[in-house]
Amino acid sequence: MKEKLDQIKTEALNKIENSTSLENLNEVRVNYLGKKGELTAVLKSMKDVAPEDRPKVGQMVNEVREEIEGALEKSISRMEKALREAKMKEEVIDVTLPAKKNNVGHRHPNTIALEEVERIFIGMGYEVVEGPEVEKDYYNFEALNIPKDHPARDEQDTFYITEDIVLRTQTSPVQVREMEKGKLPIRMIAPGRVFRSDEVDATHSPSFHQIEGLVIDKNITFADLKGTLAEFAKELFGEDTKVKFRPHHFPFTEPSAEVDVTCFKCGGSGCRFCKGSGWIEILGCGMVHPNVLKMSGIDPEEYSGFAFGVGLERIALLKYEIDDMRLLYENDSRFLKQF
Ligand code: DAH
Repeated sequence: MKEKLDQIKTEALNKIENSTSLENLNEVRVNYLGKKGELTAVLKSMKDVAPEDRPKVGQMVNEVREEIEGALEKSISRMEKALREAKMKEEVIDVTLPAKKNNVGHRHPNTIALEEVERIFIGMGYEVVEGPEVEKDYYNFEALNIPKDHPARDEQDTFYITEDIVLRTQTSPVQVREMEKGKLPIRMIAPGRVFRSDEVDATHSPSFHQIEGLVIDKNITFADLKGTLAEFAKELFGEDTKVKFRPHHFPFTEPSAEVDVTCFKCGGSGCRFCKGSGWIEILGCGMVHPNVLKMSGIDPEEYSGFAFGVGLERIALLKYEIDDMRLLYENDSRFLKQF
């Protein structure tokens, strides 16, 4: 009997020792101390023990039971403690850790430049309007005095959606859309994306941005155009900036001009930035062609106006002294964060 009890004890203690969970320990309790457990079975078999030996055996059974119970209790409390500690560890908040950086982006140089241009023109009483990027051939070319066979179309080859619908090559069609609305006078700028079938290089991209300007009113003259753009250049590039109007040709303006500003790097004496000339070209402009006014339902005898078109990337590249346009489209935040 003693051997049997010793065996039960060793077995039970061993299992307790090797238990890895509270469930394991509970199994041990049931298997050894439970109603149908092994120790209980020994008690039940007391009837086979000689009466004089019974008290001794009873005492041995009790001792084994106490030992097993003691070991169970210890294991249970040890395990519960470990579980509690693990939970605490899991839930701990280290207040000394640096906060997670909120990775906010940065305004694109194009956006910064555009906001600057908008600020200047809004200050002069202009409205900011927009037109569609997918545009009718009529608005992009025809209504701007560029009929189907006009050579100006060669310079502005684009992506055709259908025969009559294109990705706009310029923001100038927004002029026509505004004039067609029939509300005069007009004082607007129209920023937006334009497309050309150009190869990518340091100064070209198949998709870039322009800002169109249009003023239509009675008695608008070339002097208004000059004054407006001179003021614009000063605000954008600094008080000392001068403008130069070079005769040019655009089908939708007459007369037309290209505008240069004095190099803001060297002030006009000539440097690497302006390729030694002292001047930097920034935009095209002119007096709105009578044909364009007529096609948009405006009487050129009564109204006149001027228009201009600026390349937004060109402004951004100049203003922030970026030497490769491609940088503007890569969206590398290390680049963008410099502006
Ligand atoms: N749309 C012209 C271009 O993309 C730029 C331009 C020139 C716009 C003269 C105008 C203008 O409004 O008057 O080359």
